[in-house]
This record gives sequence, C-alpha cells and structure tokens, in this order.
Amino acid sequence: MEGNTSASAPTKPSGSANHLMGDHPAYNAFFWRIYAIVYDLIWDSPLTDTLAQISTSHLPSACTVVDLGCGTGLMTRQLSQHVIGVDASPAMLTRATRKQRIDRGVHAPVHETGLESGCASAVLTCNVLHLVPDPRGVINEALRLCSPAGTIFFCWPLDEPDTDTIFQLERRLGRSAPRAVLAHALRQLIGIAAALTRTPRRTSASIEQVLSRTQGLEVVFDTILHGCQRVMVLRPFTEHEAKDFFHSPSERSTE
Ligand SMILES: C[S@@+](CC[C@H](N)C(=O)[O-])C[C@H]1O[C@@H](n2cnc3c(N)ncnc32)[C@H](O)[C@@H]1O
Repeated sequence: MEGNTSASAPTKPSGSANHLMGDHPAYNAFFWRIYAIVYDLIWDSPLTDTLAQISTSHLPSACTVVDLGCGTGLMTRQLSQHVIGVDASPAMLTRATRKQRIDRGVHAPVHETGLESGCASAVLTCNVLHLVPDPRGVINEALRLCSPAGTIFFCWPLDEPDTDTIFQLERRLGRSAPRAVLAHALRQLIGIAAALTRTPRRTSASIEQVLSRTQGLEVVFDTILHGCQRVMVLRPFTEHEAKDFFHSPSERSTE
C-alpha cells in the first residue's frame, strides 16, 4: 500500500482491546509497543516478501482485504486492494497507518473486530495465531468476515527454527549482511522482552489441531515455506456446498 494517500486514523475500540492479549495484558501491551519500534528492522525481509507474494497470488484483484493482526502492515503494503488492518496494539496500527500500508485501521482484538459480517473478499491472519489465547475465536472471526467464495490466508511460524536458523535463511534469501546481523540481534532482544513480559506463544501443532477441527473451510493451498512458516489458503464452503456437506445446521458449529 505504499504511496496510498487515503489512509485514515485508526478507529477507536469499543472496549479495551488489551483484555484479549493473554494473561498479562499490561505487560503484553508494553511488549507490542516496544516491538512496533523495531518490527520493520527485523521483518522487512525477503522472507516476509515471499509470504506477501504467496498471499497476493491467491487474492482476488478487486476486493476488500481484512488483515487481522496487521502489525506495521508489511504483509499488505504491495496490495492495490482496499485494506482494513485490525490490531490490538495502537503502536503497530499507528505505524501501518503512517506508512500508508493500510487504508483503514481498526483497534480491536482479532477475534472480535466489530466489522460487518461478509465485509471482506479476503481475510489475512499472518503470524498471529500462535500469539492469541484462543486461535479458534480468530478462525471463526475470519470465517464470519469472509464473503462466500472469498479467500482466507493463514500463516504462522513453526516451532523448530531458532534465531540462528532464521539468520542463515535470510542471508541465503539475499538479505544484506548488516541488515541480517541487526535483525538477528534485535530478534534475540525481542525474545528476551517476550519472556520478561510473559507474552504467550503456542505451538504450531496446537494451531493445526484447532484448524483440523474447524468445519466449513476447504484447504486450497498448504505448504511449509523454507522450513520455518506454515502457509495455508482456505475457502469457506458456500451455502450450497454446506447444505450438501452437513446433515443438519448444528453440525456446522466448530468444536
Ligand atoms: C508478529 S506480529 C504480525 C504482524 C503482521 N501480521 C505481519 O505478519 O507482519 C503480531 C501482531 O498481532 C497483534 N496481536 C496480537 N494479539 C492480538 C489480539 N489478541 N488482538 C489483536 N491483535 C493482536 C500484535 O499487536 C502484532 O501487531
């Protein structure tokens, strides 16, 4: 979204978005405020660009995209679509808005955005599902927001790669040595900050488990990118398909 001049100021939350950022909301909010300062130095990288390219290749060209947990807007900055970024961190939203990477910012928890049902032809949730206490709530919100036959894009980090592995990978993908070294050092500091602020992180297996139990979604693309990111593109069943698939309305609810 670089160069777009119509970005609006983040919408104020109806309640406190921080309630939904784990067991230690004040610490977590502080963590995200610090992370926002260095986020682009760490993640404005070839790895993020590859993820963004994959998501872009699956999105309809003219549509509204909702980015749940948009951060600084790195995942949507190349999009020509209308982008609504949702995030619980005002610091992240402010950066995404100032850099004109989103068209509208909504300050809200990712599982309860307050946006209209079916308002998006595509919903992205990148590097967020491993951070929320209830990924099922986020998946359900993505389903609610996504229009019939729309696209849902999820990606999240695998557990195994450590900061050294990511450093080596980024060098292989062409990140310059000074930038890769700086990102490596900042990643380690952020890891310490996450531990100190008790910011929760769930395993990849637990996210897979929740997704596998979610009904009403068809997987259209599923890969592991460079051994460090799980990437999934999903499509909600249309009403017609759902009628064929489910025997009764009660079977549509997720576990
Ligand atoms: C690791 S960043 C990912 C940012 C962006 N999606 C990307 O891939 O570059 C996670 C983002 O999710 C936001 N976040 C975490 N938990 C949240 C919640 N429960 N509700 C809303 N936003 C949340 C954080 O504020 C942060 O901006």
